[in-house]
Amino acid sequence: MKIGIYGGTFNPPHLGHLAAAKYAVQVLGLDKLLLIPAAIPPHKALPEGTPAAQHRLAMVEIMADAMAMPNIVEVSDMELQRQGKSFTSDTLAELHQRYPKAELWLLMGTDMFLTLHRWHEPKAILDLAGVCAFGRTEQDGEELFAPQRDYLKQEFGAKIVTVTIPNLVDISSTRLRELLSGGAGREYLLPAIYGYILRNQLYGTSADLKHLALPELRACSYSMIRQKRVAHVIGVEEEAVRLAQRWGIDPEPARHAAILHDCTKYLELPEQLQLCREYGVELDELERRAVKLLHSKTGACIARAIFGEPDEVYEAIFWHTTAKENMTTLEKVIYLADYIEPNRDFDGVERLRALCYRDLDQALLLGVETTIQEMEERKAPIHAKTLLARNWLREHGVTIEE
Ligand SMILES: [Fe+2]
Ligand SMILES: [Fe+2]
Repeated sequence: MKIGIYGGTFNPPHLGHLAAAKYAVQVLGLDKLLLIPAAIPPHKALPEGTPAAQHRLAMVEIMADAMAMPNIVEVSDMELQRQGKSFTSDTLAELHQRYPKAELWLLMGTDMFLTLHRWHEPKAILDLAGVCAFGRTEQDGEELFAPQRDYLKQEFGAKIVTVTIPNLVDISSTRLRELLSGGAGREYLLPAIYGYILRNQLYGTSADLKHLALPELRACSYSMIRQKRVAHVIGVEEEAVRLAQRWGIDPEPARHAAILHDCTKYLELPEQLQLCREYGVELDELERRAVKLLHSKTGACIARAIFGEPDEVYEAIFWHTTAKENMTTLEKVIYLADYIEPNRDFDGVERLRALCYRDLDQALLLGVETTIQEMEERKAPIHAKTLLARNWLREHGVTIEE
């Protein structure tokens, strides 16, 4: 087994780190890549204003999730758990013990590579692991690498691979932190990591979460969910805006509701229940057990309390899973956009899509009936509000024309 080890302060993890990590998996053919944020780097003090270790760990976890290689990429807090300076030789010794048969590869950028012989216990490091050094730009190519590579091979018998990553995002963390504190730098970060930074006011950022511009609002939302759900949320935003325009309502509240509608989707049941208590959301028996039903309620609370969304957006998010009787156009738009956004693929989706643009109430009835039927087939309990939604539409003369 080949294991890549990518350590550093990740302060913050940026697109350069991401590209290097992806490239290393490919070039070395890694079976596993461990991303290991350092507690205290041995060669320099953490700069002032460095976020708490748990924030750096959370941001590295977002980066790992964005790599979309769940069986390969892992984040390890082993250096954060260990007392004192984070010496690479200690980390490698620990990993060698844990994976005695594995081939270990240490990944690093140019600056680290050029000073490797001055690290703590270089011999121990190079005995335990091969080194994969990546150049940030064309200039850090062979000319810079070759003498150091030859020296390390001769002096320590090191095993070394050097690569230049084409078009690698060239930004130093120091410069990026400066940009962030001045309200810039977004283009060097994954949106979800940028959103995490804004939500937690890291690196001197001070965005007013209640009045965010759209890219910032999206970033915050994406920072709260898994990468694989982002495409869905983008799809709901597009569909909600189209439906709002079709049915003559202001598309902006629809857009905001769509961006935030699933923001609490990945919270576990205890956290969901905690938020419901905090925001005074009353739950029935079914809801207390069904974590899936809770994210619409807690998402609505977060949208209003944290992001300052108005009541109409709160309500649209609140009812996006169950629907209810007598819905507003905005509520119908969000419920249906979630149902038919372009990534959705189920039997009957084309019929429902067409109906959404022809008759909104018929589409709502079809959506609700489809849900009820699906729950019956799965022998799952049906939410009382969903039944009320269907009955209300029927009582008001809505029937689905073929
Ligand atoms: Fe949802
Ligand atoms: Fe959704």
